[in-house]
Amino acid sequence: MDDREIIEYASKSISHSIRDIAGYVDLSFGEPWFGPPPFAQIALQELAEEATCLNRYAPPFGSMQLRIAIAERYRELYSVHVDPECVLVTHGASGAFCLSILALTSPGDQVMITDPTYMLYERSSKILGREPVHIPRRQLDFASIDIHDLDLALQRYPRSKVLIINSPENPTGDVCSAEKLRELVTWCQTNGIWLLHDEVYDSFVFDGRHVPAIEVSEEKVVMMNSCSKRYGMPGIRIGWLIVKDKKVLQECSKIHDYCYFSVNVLAQEVAARVISEKTLPAWVSSQCDEIRMRTNRFTKVLNNSRMFELDIVPKGAFFLFPRITEEGKRRVEESLSVSVSNAMAQYLKMEHKIAVVPGSVYGEHVKDRIRIVTAVAPSVFEEAIGRFANL
Ligand SMILES: Cc1ncc(COP(=O)(O)O)c(C=O)c1O
Repeated sequence: MDDREIIEYASKSISHSIRDIAGYVDLSFGEPWFGPPPFAQIALQELAEEATCLNRYAPPFGSMQLRIAIAERYRELYSVHVDPECVLVTHGASGAFCLSILALTSPGDQVMITDPTYMLYERSSKILGREPVHIPRRQLDFASIDIHDLDLALQRYPRSKVLIINSPENPTGDVCSAEKLRELVTWCQTNGIWLLHDEVYDSFVFDGRHVPAIEVSEEKVVMMNSCSKRYGMPGIRIGWLIVKDKKVLQECSKIHDYCYFSVNVLAQEVAARVISEKTLPAWVSSQCDEIRMRTNRFTKVLNNSRMFELDIVPKGAFFLFPRITEEGKRRVEESLSVSVSNAMAQYLKMEHKIAVVPGSVYGEHVKDRIRIVTAVAPSVFEEAIGRFANL
């Protein structure tokens, strides 16, 4: 391991570096303020009293109750049939990603990731001995991913085995349309590539509708999701992957067994009850309404700012990804030995006690941006709005 950069999880380390210092406004880390739902606490208490499950390991693919609850969720939300036998319970969506990469690629194979995207894909791929390769977009949205560019990328990176997309997307907030997903799935199927769809922000869509790739086709598609964002329960570490191909599923399960043995039984029981709870969709949708409202408010503040320009208006997730204007660059001119985004993140941290993530973390094309998280505690959000308005 010779590259220090790949072992640092940027947003986490930024957030933890200022977490206990008074006066900081932390907009760097995606831990939704609203979770867990009150119902999860009730489920946890009930299970603690019963405590019948702690004397055994979970089954290799996860608890059947949870797998059925997950499958049922796709039926209710998207009218998509998912066979519970095709669901594997994992340690969060991050676990699902690593298992998929290990099962679908060999050391030295290439992993196609769009630029920009969630930072973990590049870093995890490298740690697993795979080569992340970047698919540039003409603009920042999914619509501008061009099939011709994918063809060229495949010629250039012929050992590519998977293409990963994250919709709704961290950091841009863009949401991939059904039409574009169909194009991407078809391209993958034609070229023998697996499409990995990370949909952890599926519940937060303000404009249009979230479409899971599995709704388009089950062939050559792996879905990845978790309880972390939808229910505001990242601490429970329950995620899943769905893949129809039994050989791939077996391979993922085998790797999971060899690396982790099984997932925490108590956490699976809580997750199964939470996912099946009939009152929770309304609770989740009220959190989405709140995030939509916050996104609109922050957008107005950024539109009035001379230092930032919000040229990609989020359609979902809980981030803003503004570009730093010429005026903004002038403000941080003295520290421009690093990228503009790093200089700006440093400036905001030191001068205004605001923690954000520099765009450089998300890809080459976005070194002049910062990422702002809106799913923070209400008092932090209000303070952040005030500080940005006064920059
Ligand atoms: C796009 C994306 N995928 C996955 C994760 C991690 O999910 P989990 O907590 O389920 O591992 C995050 C966390 O921020 C994320 O932004």
